[in-house]
Amino acid sequence: MSAYKHKTCLAVALVVFAAFSCLEFSTCSVQFSLTQKMRRWSPQIVISLAVAAAPSACRVIELSGSDWTLSNPSLNISVPAKLPSQAHVDLFAGQVIGDPYFGLNDFNLRWVARSNWTYTSAPLTSLNSDATSTHLLFNGLDTFTSIELCGKHVASTNNQFRQYFFDVTEILASCTESPVLSINFGSAPEIANAIAAQPGQETWPFGVEMVYEFPNRQFIRKEQSDFGWDWGPAFAPAGPWLPAFVVELGASDIHVRNSLVDIYRLGQLNNLPPDQEQPWVLNVSVDYLGQSDSNRGINYRLLDSENITVSSGPLSNITAGDGVLTGTTIIPSESVDLWWPNGLGPQTLYRLELEIVDSGNKTIVSLEKRVGFRTIVLNEGVITEEQLAQGIAPGNNWHFEINGHEFYAKGSNFIPPDAFWVRVTEARIRELFEAVVAGNQNMLRVWSSGAYSPDFMYDIADELGILLWSEFEFGDALYPVDPEFLDNVSEEATYQVRRVNHHPSLAFWAGGNELENLELSIVQENGPDQYPRLLAEYEKLFLETLVPIVFGNSKSISYAPSSTSNGYLELDFSLPIPLVERYDNKTPGSIYGETDYYNYNSALAFNFSSYPVGRFSNEFGYHSMPSLQSWRQAISEEDLYFNSTVILLRNRHYPPGGLNTSNFENTTKGMGEMTVAAQRWYPVPDKQDSIANFSAWCHTTQIFQADFYQSQIMFYRRGSGRRERQLGCLYWQLEDIWQTPTWAGIEYDGRWKILHYVARDIYQPIIISPFFNRTTGDFEVYVTSDLWTSASGIADFAWYDWSGKPLEIDTPSSATFTVGAINTTLVLKANTNDILKGFDPTNVILVANVSADGKLPNSDKQQTFTHENWFHPTSLASAKLVDPGLELSYSKETQKFTVSATKGVAAWVWLDYPEGAVLYFDENAFLLLPGQSKEIGYTVKSDKTSGAWVDGVTVRSLWDNTTP
Ligand SMILES: *[C@@H]1O[C@H](CO)[C@@H](O)[C@H](O)[C@H]1NC(C)=O
Ligand SMILES: *[C@@H]1O[C@H](CO)[C@@H](O)[C@H](O)[C@H]1NC(C)=O
Ligand SMILES: *[C@@H]1O[C@H](CO)[C@@H](O)[C@H](O)[C@H]1NC(C)=O
Ligand SMILES: *[C@@H]1O[C@H](CO)[C@@H](O)[C@H](O)[C@H]1NC(C)=O
Repeated sequence: MSAYKHKTCLAVALVVFAAFSCLEFSTCSVQFSLTQKMRRWSPQIVISLAVAAAPSACRVIELSGSDWTLSNPSLNISVPAKLPSQAHVDLFAGQVIGDPYFGLNDFNLRWVARSNWTYTSAPLTSLNSDATSTHLLFNGLDTFTSIELCGKHVASTNNQFRQYFFDVTEILASCTESPVLSINFGSAPEIANAIAAQPGQETWPFGVEMVYEFPNRQFIRKEQSDFGWDWGPAFAPAGPWLPAFVVELGASDIHVRNSLVDIYRLGQLNNLPPDQEQPWVLNVSVDYLGQSDSNRGINYRLLDSENITVSSGPLSNITAGDGVLTGTTIIPSESVDLWWPNGLGPQTLYRLELEIVDSGNKTIVSLEKRVGFRTIVLNEGVITEEQLAQGIAPGNNWHFEINGHEFYAKGSNFIPPDAFWVRVTEARIRELFEAVVAGNQNMLRVWSSGAYSPDFMYDIADELGILLWSEFEFGDALYPVDPEFLDNVSEEATYQVRRVNHHPSLAFWAGGNELENLELSIVQENGPDQYPRLLAEYEKLFLETLVPIVFGNSKSISYAPSSTSNGYLELDFSLPIPLVERYDNKTPGSIYGETDYYNYNSALAFNFSSYPVGRFSNEFGYHSMPSLQSWRQAISEEDLYFNSTVILLRNRHYPPGGLNTSNFENTTKGMGEMTVAAQRWYPVPDKQDSIANFSAWCHTTQIFQADFYQSQIMFYRRGSGRRERQLGCLYWQLEDIWQTPTWAGIEYDGRWKILHYVARDIYQPIIISPFFNRTTGDFEVYVTSDLWTSASGIADFAWYDWSGKPLEIDTPSSATFTVGAINTTLVLKANTNDILKGFDPTNVILVANVSADGKLPNSDKQQTFTHENWFHPTSLASAKLVDPGLELSYSKETQKFTVSATKGVAAWVWLDYPEGAVLYFDENAFLLLPGQSKEIGYTVKSDKTSGAWVDGVTVRSLWDNTTP
């Protein structure tokens, strides 16, 4: 008997009732746990198929499992394989290749990407010949396939992001033996090249296509970063990367393959703030396999977390299309509680049970979804008279509103967490997202050019309150617009929009990454004569194709064609395409849209007049090295020095074949930027022990990165109270895809870089931040708050030299203040040319503290918020650092470390822990004055050392860079 896991449609319902119908199969319990696992990737949870009037033959057979073979006959390779999987993963498991992440294996394994790979099933022995129809259902094939069943061609596919389904009833009827399914995957890099080489194929001006390693990614619908990016490897994997099923149906059966739930305020229109007094509309639409029938209906039941029914009944206004059934109802506002993002209120969720019924109100199929009630709108509207009167600069807004409230979006950019999505487990995403919450973030921009997020990722975000700004998978290129390509994109977009729309964490859809600000500018620069044509093509894809898909399926979600942009010029629902983009149609003095800022001239890093002024910052950053501990996972001991060939070649900023040039100097340039920044701003290490020296250098590049991000985050947050009314800050990037120098704050295995601690600190609700103009000596300190009501408190200022001796510098020692809702207030103003007269500026440090009373949004509880920050007028490279005499101890009783400075001021105090564990400390990367000590707890995420890591914890500060 086949080892395939079977389940009847009924079996999925309730284990107890399903047991009997399962008896004919031997693996009922396994079946169910597999089903649980599959839920993570499935578009919806199908919970039952009750037996309708006629006995049902409905069965869903999961093809997931290990009874597959991966082969390439011409290379004479054949290994056991799994589904879902990707060829590299099975080849590694079968010991045909080494660890793809080790050393320079991504170069060495190019042959895998350039070969065809066939996944072949064991004979499917238990298919039911009595089924009225049998279908193959694939949730994801990566990417170019030719599918055969029983030796007959079923179909070819060419889009990683589509769900595919094929009626194979006739093929099976003529099959004389147990059918075998085989899926041949063509080489994506080879096929992309072949498409690009077709006669008359579209071309673009120089530089439009950002080439990282494999070229021509824009011609194919596959994860764009699979062809390389400036933070990742280029494996271009192939394989059945998401679950697949055989669906057998009786005459009156249906199988739900995808479904949409849209929850919005009555009268709501996309991109416009709705009337929060209106009731909710619940719109449901299911896509199914099986016969269409216009006499079906949908019943719903909405349950709260206590399983109390909040609302139920039949949906009205039923419409039945070909394989689609839609219905709607009204839910009164007062029946449900709102869902809020992290830090802004509770994450209230409901269970929505749906039953599709026949004309006699008998259930044909049931499914359930977890939903939340919230409105989230990207407000790009014109700055109003009222806003102008508050001192906000004219132009347009560009910010998010949750349930009718402006809020400050704090977060970062998410990239694919692995080059092989099949290795990304729910546990890994949960750990990562818990770090997001611990980091005081409420929003992630899920960067396009990776893959659409699995349902389990949205599920975890729903629970933890992380808004996921989502994007269609296009970026840093312009794309073809021939009818076949557009049809392919339409299928992809329709499937994905419908699949994820019910998640309250879904914040936004953007068309793609850096299209207007970057791609269209490159055209203007390198091919101005082609601009009108390419602008029209841009609009054809990102407005004419995608707008009707988003707006046609969902009223609850805002759309913009590009991250980053200057927003819309007009939003008019009487137009065929309601969105008209602004592009460069700007009025001087006005402010529009989002900013995206990279400047690798580190001399300007702390010059805040070089930062962009906009309504929202969706990308900014600078790269740093990962820790020694991470490097050790990926490269040999002899390669552990700063510019070793292996490190140079793993660094992809700038990529070896990048930006249409092909040279090795590029990668040295990226390494050089880190080196120069470290030398410019900090004492740099020169240690006798080469590993210690390497580790200290890696660490110093991380200090610069964190310092630079903190400076920008303070600036953007202060902008909430200035004319730009800046309302969001998402740094680049949350996490790593592998072990290499990147912009990440969290390394590949989950270890926090300095950045993640510093971002967590500066993302607290109330912060105190210094601003210094090195040219004029103007010095200001601000308190900034993103609470929704005003807060009052006191700011304290104390000056010291590096030995910790207090200095009598003539500024007030404290200031009382009130800071408004999502606002900023000046608490100290001086000029260093005056106040530091007679002092050595390299031996001066200001410690600023704030303590303020306020309330978190949606909370009645008054609480005290505190924050500390510090300022030094010159580069730390020239600071008169002294040995702070750091001491570290650990108490087994309290499970806390104690760190003390005994002799001087300790800057950038850093607790480090050895390999084998992943954890984070309650606090890290801080300042200690002599005589001060801190007790520091920790949260362990994984530990292969059985607790022994505790003994390997070390402490250092910047002064350690000056010791041999
Ligand atoms: C590889 O796959 C492609 C696309 O499926 C196909 O056109 C080609 O013939 C295959 N090559 C071999 C050697 O099987
Ligand atoms: C609600 O019902 C679900 C499904 O029957 C069950 O798993 C869950 O434990 C129930 N919750 C409560 C609070 O009773
Ligand atoms: C069908 O049955 C459900 C309960 O299962 C009920 O709520 C609904 O009103 C019924 N519909 C009709 C049209 O009778
Ligand atoms: C059903 O359709 C009618 C007519 O178009 C409309 O007035 C009504 O609001 C719809 N009901 C719901 C719940 O959307």
